[in-house]
Amino acid sequence: MPGLLLGDEAPDFEADTTQGRIRFHDFLGDSWGILFSHPRDFTPVCTTELGRAAQLAPEFSKRNVKMIALSIDSVQDHLSWCKDVNAYNGEQPAETLPFPIIADKNRELAVKLGMLDPDELDKDGMPLTARVVFIFGPDKKLKLSILYPATTGRNFDEILRVLDSLQLTAYKKVATPVDWKPGDSVMVVPTLPDEEAKKLFPKGVFTKELPSGKKYLRYTPQPE
Ligand code: BEZ
Repeated sequence: MPGLLLGDEAPDFEADTTQGRIRFHDFLGDSWGILFSHPRDFTPVCTTELGRAAQLAPEFSKRNVKMIALSIDSVQDHLSWCKDVNAYNGEQPAETLPFPIIADKNRELAVKLGMLDPDELDKDGMPLTARVVFIFGPDKKLKLSILYPATTGRNFDEILRVLDSLQLTAYKKVATPVDWKPGDSVMVVPTLPDEEAKKLFPKGVFTKELPSGKKYLRYTPQPE
């Protein structure tokens, strides 16, 4: 069964991109990574998404996240499309974006990574790529995947929000509650005993009383 599940290691594929040929593990290095797929070049929703991703590139970089996109057209098409994306952003129509775009003309990678959407077909009846987001940790394991159909554009602010949550979990051993935003209180994970939590979170652990009497709703201010 193609595709990737949480905890799977990123495949170490080779691919042609708008920034030359890459080997995925070398590309990731020791960084976090985000791989996001697009149904096709020169399509409206994708163009707005790539534009937003380009604007937010400094935010990804601040979080030590390497960005890479994928679309099932050629490098030449991608380079030409980049000009449109830059123009859409109100910039010079250059062939460069702050991240590479993988050329997956034969859909080999899209099949391998389980990215195809059987309900969205091109003019030849071939399935297009869905809007997949894979976030890999520095250990190259899949930490998060999001799958949207071609007709729904993603929210890149939400992607940054989940990255902040993933990195808080990785570095500070906390979880984030519903609708959490950076700066809000976070939650102590259920597996951490109270005594350890007190030591680990010097700003304090606040428990909400519940009818069950169970003390599992434990909050702490977001660690620095
Ligand atoms: C788009 O990017 O606008 C799009 C691509 C494929 C199907 C529907 C929309």
